[in-house]
Amino acid sequence: MREDVARILISEEELQQRIRALARQIEADYAGKPLLVVGLLKGAVNFMVDLTRAMQRPVAIDFMAVSSYGASTESSGIVRIEKDLNDSIEGKHVLIVEDIVDTGLTLKYILGLLNRRGPASLRVCTLLNKQERRLVDLPIDYIGFDVPNEFVIGYGLDYNQIYRNLPFIGVLKPEIYMSEK
Ligand code: IMP
Repeated sequence: MREDVARILISEEELQQRIRALARQIEADYAGKPLLVVGLLKGAVNFMVDLTRAMQRPVAIDFMAVSSYGASTESSGIVRIEKDLNDSIEGKHVLIVEDIVDTGLTLKYILGLLNRRGPASLRVCTLLNKQERRLVDLPIDYIGFDVPNEFVIGYGLDYNQIYRNLPFIGVLKPEIYMSEK
């Protein structure tokens, strides 16, 4: 698996250190308010687990799974809900946890959808931000790391459903996905 990684972009230690800082910031911002953390499956699972575990306050959690049509390294903006939230978010303070915001099309769709359900507040926390590729303007409240315009894998992020269990964020060797185009 590691032989497919061109280089490590963010190490395990850097990830955990930044996640602890994000947890402190979120705790402070939501002090005295109940918080529902919504993780987007499957990519945000590792981040969501470590982020909520680093918080010293109670949180409720829920998950949503969406998929976007298109080639495997590109987002199309056409989003299908594969698993909706279990509970209503009406009147709740909701924090969406995402693995990476790339074009922003997926998140824009989800924000529109969840906003129509009447939450008390709706914010976004993404581990990675690929600003260079953004096609739509989005409010992102918490960002773990800005990353360059390269296809990254590990710590939840996949290519063709694999590499999610790498403990770091790495850059996939371009020949891996070029060979399949
Ligand atoms: P967007 O709609 O273009 O912002 O794409 C968001 C989704 O595309 C993310 O939640 C990821 O699942 C996937 N994605 C975008 N860039 C990468 C990447 O570099 N590696 C792995 N998945 C990615």
